[in-house]
Amino acid sequence: QDRAPLTNTTSSIPKLGFGVYQLYGQSCQKAVLDALQAGYRHIDSAQLYRNEADVGAAVQQSPIQREDIFITTKIRQSAGSPDKSYRSCVESIEKVGGKDGYVDLLLIHIPGTGRESREELWGVLERLHAEGRARAIGVSNYRPQHIEEMKEYAKVWPPHVNQVELHPWCQQRDIVQYCEDKNIVLAAYSPLSCGDHLNDPTLGAIADKYDKSPAQILIRFALQKNWVPLPKSGNPDRIKQNANVFDFALDEGDMKTLDGLDRGKAGALFPANVK
Ligand code: A2P
Repeated sequence: QDRAPLTNTTSSIPKLGFGVYQLYGQSCQKAVLDALQAGYRHIDSAQLYRNEADVGAAVQQSPIQREDIFITTKIRQSAGSPDKSYRSCVESIEKVGGKDGYVDLLLIHIPGTGRESREELWGVLERLHAEGRARAIGVSNYRPQHIEEMKEYAKVWPPHVNQVELHPWCQQRDIVQYCEDKNIVLAAYSPLSCGDHLNDPTLGAIADKYDKSPAQILIRFALQKNWVPLPKSGNPDRIKQNANVFDFALDEGDMKTLDGLDRGKAGALFPANVK
């Protein structure tokens, strides 16, 4: 699958990822195996999702080599001290990546409330990156001011990725512009707007024109924006459908039309909304 370089690292990220939020146990394992079978090579997990071990089990069961799969996980908050946070990350890395394993990308899940915890967690991620256990490191739900603040304490700057909510109705243009300027890869969670806008008539007309589903149009929109979409599905047919987006391209006019749907929504910046 097509990959995008991660600036200042030796690695690259598959341009389409698979989201596993709210998938648990056997159904999570099955969804990940279905996704790998359908051609996804990028799985996006998090401590918060409580399915890191299921992702790890599926990757182990899959005939695909570990090094051909890109796995992300995220740490939500400080575990109480740098050492405890470090151990918490290692636990997560071993759940998804196996004993003595690695993750391809480790993210701070939310900026949280204070600079102190952001600084502590970034230090932990930098250490894991130096040790080779996190091949790339980044942030999630960070606004430009949080990334600017990192300059005061970061050895690794800019972060390699910022993962935020992105879809036509929530384009967070200030964050997107900032990350583009700094060569920070934007990963897009909820690229299908959590399913909320799949019946939108404007989207429907575009889907009919290309003979694709509304979900496929939204994934294509994200890809053409150079975002890394992370659509979630627990259904084998939809998992397959969402990966079948490399045989067509939206024209400029349709990209513009979708662009015009933005509602200026701020995205999930608050813990209650975070994915
Ligand atoms: P399901 O898991 O039953 O497929 P997002 O990725 O924006 O968070 O959206 C996820 C939601 O969209 C889930 O409720 C998922 O349901 C649904 N979904 C995923 N793919 C499709 C699709 N191709 N068509 C319709 N709904 C979809």
